[in-house]
Amino acid sequence: MTTLNVLITGAARRVGKMLAEAVAEAGGNIALHYGHSRTAAEATAAALRARGATVALLQADLSNPAEAAALVDRAWEALGGLNALVNSAAIFENLTWETTDLAAWERHLRVNLTAPFLLSQAFARRLLAEPEAQGRIVNILDWRALRPAGDHLPYTVSKAGLAALTQSLAVAFAPRITVNGMALGAVLPPSDGQPAPKVLHATPVSRWATAEEVRRTLRFLLTGPAYITGEIIHLDGGRHLV
Ligand SMILES: NC(=O)c1ccc[n+]([C@@H]2O[C@H](COP(=O)([O-])OP(=O)(O)OC[C@H]3O[C@@H](n4cnc5c(N)ncnc54)[C@H](OP(=O)(O)O)[C@@H]3O)[C@@H](O)[C@H]2O)c1
Repeated sequence: MTTLNVLITGAARRVGKMLAEAVAEAGGNIALHYGHSRTAAEATAAALRARGATVALLQADLSNPAEAAALVDRAWEALGGLNALVNSAAIFENLTWETTDLAAWERHLRVNLTAPFLLSQAFARRLLAEPEAQGRIVNILDWRALRPAGDHLPYTVSKAGLAALTQSLAVAFAPRITVNGMALGAVLPPSDGQPAPKVLHATPVSRWATAEEVRRTLRFLLTGPAYITGEIIHLDGGRHLV
């Protein structure tokens, strides 16, 4: 069986760390990307190594397109090959149409949409150059991507673009690379100190997601049927329906 070698962006802490744990649980190895969180990345890597995973730590600023484009090759060399890419790094700012300036707009699109495209392009170029190799891409979305409203405006637009990219690349990269999305609801409160949103009244399942549910969903998309592509699984307790 081929070893699962996965590049995960923004994997030092929070949701990205859960995703890295999911790969370790599946017996895979991780190219663990981080931006600023070096200390957290080292701690996460140590914990994953203790469970038997090979972990390569890679720093890059994903708002810089050249650094984003170069990351796949660095991960490929570090792990001796990759067969999956998980795009989780993102920024999430509480901006409206009135408070969004050009810099904020461009920052969201660069990190949340342009970087996943450049990473996917680099991943496909490397993988498709290897005869017979098969790969998987999982993009971390948000229920807001398919139910846009006026809050978190540039974030929501960037994630809606990422949902469209998921489906476009599923077609473009078939049959050798599947491209799917996980549209998350309430997993963790925002990391920027904003108060935890009061979401439970708008969540039919009426609770936050567990880390185990996040991990299981990723494992399914990385190791489940390769006939599933272009799919966006909502792990949001039904929030997108109401
Ligand atoms: N938390 C939730 O409940 C929730 C809900 C819906 C969707 N999501 C999605 O799940 C994913 C992870 O969410 P989260 O709440 O864990 O996110 P987060 O804490 O806000 O940030 C995720 C990571 O993105 C990385 N990042 C941001 N800008 C970067 C840049 N310019 N260069 C490199 N890395 C950069 C950061 O890495 P460093 O810390 O190393 O700088 C950060 O750790 C995101 O795609 C988010 O949209 C989360």
